[in-house]
Amino acid sequence: MWEFAVQKDSSHAVLITGSTSGIGLAMAHCFGRAGYQVMLHGLADQDSAQALLAEFARYGSHNGFSDADLSTEEGCAQLVRDTREAVGNPSVLINNAGIQFTAPAHDFPAQKWQQILSINLSAGFFLSRDLLPAMRAANWGRIINIASVHGLVASEHKAAYCAAKHGLIGLTKVLALENADCNITANAICPGWVETPLIQPQIEAISREQQLDLEAARAQLVGAKQPMAKASRPEAIGELALYLCGDFASTITGASLPVDGGWTAQ
Ligand SMILES: NC(=O)c1ccc[n+]([C@@H]2O[C@H](COP(=O)([O-])OP(=O)(O)OC[C@H]3O[C@@H](n4cnc5c(N)ncnc54)[C@H](O)[C@@H]3O)[C@@H](O)[C@H]2O)c1
Repeated sequence: MWEFAVQKDSSHAVLITGSTSGIGLAMAHCFGRAGYQVMLHGLADQDSAQALLAEFARYGSHNGFSDADLSTEEGCAQLVRDTREAVGNPSVLINNAGIQFTAPAHDFPAQKWQQILSINLSAGFFLSRDLLPAMRAANWGRIINIASVHGLVASEHKAAYCAAKHGLIGLTKVLALENADCNITANAICPGWVETPLIQPQIEAISREQQLDLEAARAQLVGAKQPMAKASRPEAIGELALYLCGDFASTITGASLPVDGGWTAQ
């Protein structure tokens, strides 16, 4: 006989950091469609936040929004408070908010290093630390960390990003071990190139430097690393995250799952 962990029901809430844009927004729509209460979050003004909440009203669930700045521990604590107030304790936490800055290590500004480590790594730790006790008490939970292929391999000029994403994968494994007794899984998703605003500056830089049109620059950027020279759709990351919350994924934990067109198979 199959034994499944206690399954989430439609009243469960998911907190998705950085869900005003890109991968986070696409994931939020996947979870909204699946019946979750969605706690939206990201840097957005009031009008954009209201518009976003109005957009999610179509799913018929009670959702919330916070614009807490995740670059400090206090900002993370604020997000926890806002989340509890809007949707209660989330049974699913998706640490997705992230930023990028590229420069050679010998020329990397200290402020950018600190900012990337804070948002891309420390915020995931603080939020997990503060939300895990309620998941443990409920004997069910999911932590999904949106890492990157740069948590598995390196690229030049991404010292802080690679350090943070490698760190996030280490954190994921520790959380998986520590919470295996409570039906809580922790996994990392490691995208290669995904069609979002985050990669746009890199496409524009190639276009400028090599005098290529934007489409040719995009193909050059993606094909330089991925045997499949096409970027993944953000919804693909959302559907994988949703799968990780389902019964069949109840024993997938501590894993780092690439969605990368073969990038890390090389
Ligand atoms: N786009 C890609 O190709 C790609 C590839 C691999 C991994 N990723 C990872 O996926 C995640 C999402 O990337 P994306 O491409 O959707 O990015 P994006 O730039 O479209 O969205 C980033 C989100 O993070 C939020 N954010 C940024 N700084 C913040 C701060 N200080 N406090 C709170 N929120 C903040 C933004 O408001 C936004 O909602 C990131 O962790 C990124 O490293 C992206």
